Amino acid sequence: MAKESYSKGDYYNEKARKEGMPARSIYKLEELDQRFHLLAPGQKVVDLGAAPGSWSLYIAQKIGLSGQLFSYDIQPLRSAMPATVTFEIKDVLLAPIESFPQDVDLVLSDMAPSTTGDRFSDAARSHELSMRVLEIAQAILKSGHNCAFKVFEGEDTPSLIKYAREHFTSVKLLRPKATRSCSREIFVVGLGARREES
Ligand SMILES: C[S@@+](CC[C@H](N)C(=O)[O-])C[C@H]1O[C@@H](n2cnc3c(N)ncnc32)[C@H](O)[C@@H]1O
Repeated sequence: MAKESYSKGDYYNEKARKEGMPARSIYKLEELDQRFHLLAPGQKVVDLGAAPGSWSLYIAQKIGLSGQLFSYDIQPLRSAMPATVTFEIKDVLLAPIESFPQDVDLVLSDMAPSTTGDRFSDAARSHELSMRVLEIAQAILKSGHNCAFKVFEGEDTPSLIKYAREHFTSVKLLRPKATRSCSREIFVVGLGARREES
């Protein structure tokens, strides 16, 4: 069937199924990576909200055997990962910052709250996750390195972006092609972490 005959969600679901990927969100990360050159061989990367595992599979392939990936979620992964991936069941909101690896090259987050259908409360919970991502990124990223995370747009998004701008040299926004048209998600990309030395 031609691409045009599918809704966007169906097209990317079908593509993920054919390519053996556990989730179609891989194409969002692929677009982020193509646009901002986030991933490179040998990097130490943190993937927050990693289940079912398509981002982690993509990251592991891009960082190669010399890289290290630390993936976290409150749910288990649904795919086997290469030996370079360390996965832990962890609530990112509750886990102490010291439990995350240090001197990381890239922090990625596709975390999303379970949606209720109420866009105000969904956006508020997504904002809380995003602020936590920024807090973790500030603590564990090497100076000058990058972070990209998902947020459901809401009334707090301008303040989130303002906050991100205080901590990164440059902040870009992207709504990937694989995002469903009904979704309010955008991705925030912080380039060049201004690491506060303690
Ligand atoms: C859209 S899915 C991630 C898909 C993943 N990037 C992939 O490609 O397979 C969002 C994930 O965020 C996780 N999540 C939500 N809140 C979380 C939290 N507080 N700590 C860790 N993971 C969380 C959910 O369990 C869910 O698996």
